Amino acid sequence: MASKPAAVIGIYPGSFDPITNGHLDMIGRASRLVDRLIVAVLRNERKQPLFSVDERRQMLAEAVGHYPNVEIDSFEGLLVDYAAAQGARVIFRGIRAISDYEYELQMALMNRRLRPEIEMVFLMAGEAYSFISSQLIKEVVNLGGNVAGLVPEAVERRLKSRLLGSG
Ligand code: PNS
Repeated sequence: MASKPAAVIGIYPGSFDPITNGHLDMIGRASRLVDRLIVAVLRNERKQPLFSVDERRQMLAEAVGHYPNVEIDSFEGLLVDYAAAQGARVIFRGIRAISDYEYELQMALMNRRLRPEIEMVFLMAGEAYSFISSQLIKEVVNLGGNVAGLVPEAVERRLKSRLLGSG
């Protein structure tokens, strides 16, 4: 009898400070390509994030609850070591514009050198999200701009409360 093929596990890593609708678009796309998708938040206090890892995990969990094969985790250290420890074969990254390519290529080639058995897979962000970044979202909210439709509503409320003391 043929044995059941092993489940394909993918990792979607990032800072997610906070999650945007661009990230959600990527999670939807990536979740359709693997059996299990682990969205992994980088623990890196040197980056001076706006939200703690627990807050970021909570916002992610609220936003992806409807995907049965998506789970949230956090990691520190080398991404490829974390992926290997999870039994993952694939790491997903999103590409918004050509400007993302250079940095992503550098990381992909370094990751391949470190662990050639793990494949980096790049997905193109939906065009509606190709200009969104967590950094830009924070800047716009901080300056009183409207980010409705660019982040989940719960994230918008938390951003206003953290940055403007309202919402
Ligand atoms: O959302 P971001 O900040 O663009 O995500 C960057 C991330 C988390 C993918 C990258 O910083 C990373 O992989 N960090 C873990 C440390 C590591 O493996 N560094 C070597 C990369 S070649």
